[in-house]
Amino acid sequence: MIVCVCNRITEAEVRKAARSGYATPEAAYACVGCDVQCGCCLDFAQDVIDEEQGKRPRLRLVA
Ligand code: FES
Repeated sequence: MIVCVCNRITEAEVRKAARSGYATPEAAYACVGCDVQCGCCLDFAQDVIDEEQGKRPRLRLVA
């Protein structure tokens, strides 16, 4: 799943950055060589980071 359309950053990349200690979308994006562009993705990216770092419960999709 793409988290950031502007930079084509995937959820897996954001989760990997979060596991490496990057706690904000800006830091996680910099980790993969990108900068925030439009900013539309920041809330979702922060949720993904917070989940990965155990700061919020993991969201589950119902099939
Ligand atoms: S969608 Fe991430 S900066 Fe635009």
